[in-house]
Amino acid sequence: MAYEVKDINLAEQGSMNIAFAETQMLALLEVKKRFVKEKPLKGIKVGMALHVTKETAVLVRTLIAGGAEVAITGCNPLSTQDDVAAALAKEGVEVYAYKGETKEDYYKYLNKIISFKPHITIDDGCDLVTEIHSKHKELIPSLIGGCEETTTGVIRLKAMERDGALKYPVIAVNDNDTKHLLDNYYGTGQSTLDGLIRATNILLAGKTFVVLGYGSCGKGTALRARGLGANVIVTEINHFKALQAKYDGFRVMKMEEACKLGDIFITVTGNKHVIRLEHMKQMKTGAIMANSGHFDIEIDVAGLNKEAKGVKRIRPFLDEYNLNGRNIYLCGEGRLVNLAAAEGHPSEVMSTSFCGQALAVEYCVKNKGKLKPSVITLPKEVDDNIAKLQLNALGITIDTLTPEQIKYLASWDEGT
Ligand SMILES: NC(=O)c1ccc[n+]([C@@H]2O[C@H](COP(=O)([O-])OP(=O)(O)OC[C@H]3O[C@@H](n4cnc5c(N)ncnc54)[C@H](O)[C@@H]3O)[C@@H](O)[C@H]2O)c1
Repeated sequence: MAYEVKDINLAEQGSMNIAFAETQMLALLEVKKRFVKEKPLKGIKVGMALHVTKETAVLVRTLIAGGAEVAITGCNPLSTQDDVAAALAKEGVEVYAYKGETKEDYYKYLNKIISFKPHITIDDGCDLVTEIHSKHKELIPSLIGGCEETTTGVIRLKAMERDGALKYPVIAVNDNDTKHLLDNYYGTGQSTLDGLIRATNILLAGKTFVVLGYGSCGKGTALRARGLGANVIVTEINHFKALQAKYDGFRVMKMEEACKLGDIFITVTGNKHVIRLEHMKQMKTGAIMANSGHFDIEIDVAGLNKEAKGVKRIRPFLDEYNLNGRNIYLCGEGRLVNLAAAEGHPSEVMSTSFCGQALAVEYCVKNKGKLKPSVITLPKEVDDNIAKLQLNALGITIDTLTPEQIKYLASWDEGT
């Protein structure tokens, strides 16, 4: 049995969810159609550590349609959709994942993917790449390349590259415009609020909503929170991003001030301990904290667990802590709230992200042996092609440059 899932009997529900996701992922289905004809991934084994969601299942099917063999595990202990994992297992995919994995199982499953001996890795957060580099170097010679989905993973890969530790080429799919400017912005924006609302069902109108980090994810989250009537405060460490937040109409201040004002706090920095005990101790009673950054280290949950008088799980993804005689709340154990308490990004936005993954895998195969062990950005044309596929899927056509415009844009002699 080449799978470990929560309950194989959930497969039928999973298949229905995947089928529904497909109705929203037409650009990716176009890539799949071409893959069926051309079989660009024939004979290639792809080992994946991605959130096991219905959208990821559509990517898995696309890679298989292209001729690949696939094995998949999750990239976060709380993000697996058990019905989807079951459906993939039923389709014959090697899948090792369940929602609520222990740390031990998380690493056991990463090692199952390594034992599958992939030629290409797909990671979300770089745990698979680091596990291979630290404990399974013997796999490196047979690896053609890797693909990384998220900002945090790309940051880790760049640190590996800087230290001379990265031993095979990895494509930073997150750096596609059609990834971080769509998925991180519109996807995280909507799904973070979805997770927060499913965990708490609180009214957002009139609340003071603090967003920590004003990058692609933070901008989307702040925008959607304002859309629901919240008063948004942004905290930043980057001067330009702070200025952007100010000019976008948000209050900007230090966390040591914001912590006293907020009703809700969302971390999306990709950084460690941006909410610390010193902040939590000053929060109002009833304050709610959630994280939507990749790892569960943005909020000092360990410190909170140590210092709090008591902790009570009052709803499936909501814990009540008694700190300094006041109750404060933490959603989804501080793990990314949109996947822990909700279903992650809407399928449509994952369509462009995963076109990026499918085309990055194809790019690795086409350029086998030619890419240096480094962090690689896909050529602009690939990114542009993804945007075009998505526009086609939406039934939108755009203007093209006239010959006169092309000439004008390439000239310097026509001025005032
Ligand atoms: N929840 C999801 O589904 C999802 C989706 C995409 C990305 N992510 C993750 O979300 C995180 C953010 O991604 P991004 O693409 O927005 O990154 P980004 O680099 O665009 O933005 C991060 C921002 O946080 C700021 N920051 C860093 N340390 C800070 C601190 N101490 N206080 C306040 N601000 C601080 C940075 O200056 C930057 O502007 C990453 O961990 C990424 O992997 C999650």
